[in-house]
Amino acid sequence: MSVHQEVKRVTTHTLQAMKVKGDKIAMLTAYDFSMATILDEAGIDILLVGDSASNVMAGHETTLPITLDQMIYHASAVVRAVKRALVVVDLPFGAYQGNSKEALHSAIRVMKESGAHAVKLEGGVEVSDSIVRIVTAGIPVMGHLGLTPQSIYKFGTYTVRAKEEAEADKLREDAIALEQSGCFSVVLEKIPAVLAKEVVQSVHIPVIGIGAGSACDGQVLVINDLIGLTKGFKPRFLRQYLDLYREIGAATQSYIRDVKSGDFPNQQEQY
Ligand code: KIV
Repeated sequence: MSVHQEVKRVTTHTLQAMKVKGDKIAMLTAYDFSMATILDEAGIDILLVGDSASNVMAGHETTLPITLDQMIYHASAVVRAVKRALVVVDLPFGAYQGNSKEALHSAIRVMKESGAHAVKLEGGVEVSDSIVRIVTAGIPVMGHLGLTPQSIYKFGTYTVRAKEEAEADKLREDAIALEQSGCFSVVLEKIPAVLAKEVVQSVHIPVIGIGAGSACDGQVLVINDLIGLTKGFKPRFLRQYLDLYREIGAATQSYIRDVKSGDFPNQQEQY
């Protein structure tokens, strides 16, 4: 692209128009400047600075430990890289569950300090007051239903959610509540494809799935899983496009060999 060509940014309105036209939305997570640069140049529509950074960046077992300050650090790096994609940032555990005032305060910090374009939070009717308050302040909000990792100790496992009718009914109601509260989009994680399809048809906002089947208006994956950096993590919903764990390991072994043998650096690689 020439320097004179303006890049058309993805906005919440772009995503809404994509749903209406039936154009699928591609979303990935990103946590740092280098990766976000590549994904944005490749044409990704949404970059999510997910609280999965707690797992894949910091090595925690769950998403619970990551702090608002740490999320803002990751989000700022991603925002600096991005020219086109919509940047959405997860509000971390403990930054919005207390009350709607706390939720608004956290969302404002994310927007002001990172320059991101929207926030995401987990939950249904129980967080609708907070969503209304944040949206009223002019901040776009993405919802997240189904498997909500911040509640992992309530669920007990990472298995498929809403297989029973009572939980499926609650999820249907929650999706409507999120739309009515003003969410511009909702993520559905690890639920039956049939249920996700019903939700897609019952709301007007774009529904982004992860392990929620092909009827969703878009799909999201954790970038580290897609490129094969997370060793041994192969859930059914994941399509792994690269095996970087193996490739980086092999490259590292080549480097070690070359250093130890004296082959690196050679004449051309020194001053
Ligand atoms: O934190 C995250 O990566 C997420 C996606 C799995 C949707 O919330």
